[in-house]
Amino acid sequence: MKWAMVATWRMAFEGVEKASEILSVGGNSKDAIEESIKMVEDYPFYKSVGYGGLPNEHCEVELDGAFMDGDTLSFGAIGGIKDFKNPISIARKLSMERFNCFLVGKGAEEYAKQNGFEQRPMLTKRAETHYKIRKRDIEEKGLSPYDGHDTVGIIALDSLKSMTVGTSTSGLFMKKRGRVGDSPVSGSGFYVDSEVGGATATGLGEDIMKGCLSYEIVRLMAEGLSPQKAADKALNEFIRRIKAKGSKIGEISIVALNNQGEFGVATNIKNFSFVYSSEKHKTTVYVCENHEGETTYEEASEEWLEAYSKRIKEELFFD
Ligand code: GLY
Repeated sequence: MKWAMVATWRMAFEGVEKASEILSVGGNSKDAIEESIKMVEDYPFYKSVGYGGLPNEHCEVELDGAFMDGDTLSFGAIGGIKDFKNPISIARKLSMERFNCFLVGKGAEEYAKQNGFEQRPMLTKRAETHYKIRKRDIEEKGLSPYDGHDTVGIIALDSLKSMTVGTSTSGLFMKKRGRVGDSPVSGSGFYVDSEVGGATATGLGEDIMKGCLSYEIVRLMAEGLSPQKAADKALNEFIRRIKAKGSKIGEISIVALNNQGEFGVATNIKNFSFVYSSEKHKTTVYVCENHEGETTYEEASEEWLEAYSKRIKEELFFD
């Protein structure tokens, strides 16, 4: 297999489709990752990434993201950056820095400005309406504020056998100002080594970071496990350990890709969707479930895809 990509969530579909054109003509995995994630960041109806991302408790959109080069293990990461259009491009630039490659808040914004990255107010009217509705529900119905944090994470393998991974997210809806999740944290939200493969996670960052799950999956693949076995084993073992300690566990889903282009997926939720594309496989959305520790998946049906498109654009009312 010459090239392949795997990504978290249905929202990655258009980006992966576009990036597959780059890879199919011999383009590199770094460009594929930046282009595919930029498409997700720019689309206003994906409410947990980039423009239109869900805000923190002060109604500010603070974005996290990362970019890792599997040939050198260099990574760049940003946390809590405000009002820059494409966090993934800033993370890519940071991955070329020998020092200061993980920047947060004002420091990340200064770096982005100095390096000419495009600024843009990232809060949309729609995200503001989501915020108002959630605030009212928290006050009136006593609902938990912390729900909804779907990170886009994509891994790419190119025809020269180079691998890259990227992540981008607005993080936990209603988070505290300055809260950073797993998505920009190497080994937790992402990891890739072109000699082995890569993994990337989505879900509750506070829990994903307890298990360094992306690194663990790459480590298991290096021991010879298939991406599917490595993903299931890492997640199952982590859940067992957390439960044995008497702690709760949040929602976690992970995708993995080895340097042969084979993918794996693990989840502890219903309806986790992901996207896979390769030289031999058209870009496809899958939906998966966990049956007693084993993740199974099937191609998303037309009904599922239609319901998804309708749901993300449905009108929001707040009065
Ligand atoms: N996984 C995204 C976050 O927890 O921020």
